[in-house]
Amino acid sequence: MKNIQISDFGITKEGDIIKKYTLINKNGMQAEIISFGGIVTALTAPDRNGAYKDVVLGFTNPENYFNDNSYFFGAIIGRFANRIAHGKFSLNGENFNLNKNNGENHLHGGENGFFAKVWEAEIISDTQSLKLSYTSKDGEEGYPGELMVTVFYTLTDENALEIIYEATTNRDTVINLTHHSYFNLSGNFSQSITDHELQMNAGRFIATDDSSIPLEGFREVAGTPFDFRNFKTIGKDIDAEDEQLKIAKGYDHCWVLNGEGMRLVAELYHPESGRKMEVITDQIGIQGYTGNFLDGKFETKTGGKNNPRTGICLETQHFPDSPNRKSFPSVVLKIGEKYETKTIYRFSAK
Ligand code: BGC
Repeated sequence: MKNIQISDFGITKEGDIIKKYTLINKNGMQAEIISFGGIVTALTAPDRNGAYKDVVLGFTNPENYFNDNSYFFGAIIGRFANRIAHGKFSLNGENFNLNKNNGENHLHGGENGFFAKVWEAEIISDTQSLKLSYTSKDGEEGYPGELMVTVFYTLTDENALEIIYEATTNRDTVINLTHHSYFNLSGNFSQSITDHELQMNAGRFIATDDSSIPLEGFREVAGTPFDFRNFKTIGKDIDAEDEQLKIAKGYDHCWVLNGEGMRLVAELYHPESGRKMEVITDQIGIQGYTGNFLDGKFETKTGGKNNPRTGICLETQHFPDSPNRKSFPSVVLKIGEKYETKTIYRFSAK
């Protein structure tokens, strides 16, 4: 790690001064992260000739980040990534109502989730990490408990962006944090990602109803367009006659990851440039979302429009709607416990 540079990013409507932290490693790779939403506004990666280019979608001006509540470009997502059916759950016999910001359902922590919060930033000199902290009040967005959240972003000299999430609460609550970068390894953000090859160590996925709420049980990927056990292009089956793909206008599903503990779970490869990204995590699921609801309303950082399928999110997380599913692993964080999870996005070229 070489250094971290701090610069002004913008001022929110509420008058908060937002700073940008540029993490630079010894190879010259850069990660730009802002104190608003913990958003990664740029992340460079090398192609096979060693040329570094930005590979994450974003806006061209700060206000768009401050006003966004539908793309979640590069943001920290919490308290609960993905959907909670009807914005309701019960815990310890008490019912909780969350706001419904996705039709009848609650999505990504609500209208003013963690992606829309101002985080306190601190540079940890030992590891050259950016530490972002946020305290979510008891009852915020309808969730119980005051939640103290810390996210550490570290850019290593192995060209990996490491994200560590930690949290504690003063009352039992639910939690599911993730990162929402849309990757486009071509570095041209108006170009479709359907030419990228994807491989995921997942034998099963979670099928959903037409509002993207999980159906019962897991489905085998074998014999379906959801089979990424071996590398294939994202475009190969994305338009197949398949009810699940129709619902989401492409892939927008949670895969059930094989194995446990910190392990390599997915690889994304762009044959033209040679850029490759590995996803390493201790999480049990990954939401693979092919940017189906990008709608061309904004100009991309490299010109052209942010059309559908110009980026892919690989969001490591617990399963959607877990607070309402007895059969899914628990997402409850109890008083006195510590939530801790780690995901690494590692870049190389071949
Ligand atoms: C979800 C999509 C949602 C998108 C919003 C993704 O994480 O899976 O369903 O439309 O976020 O940007």
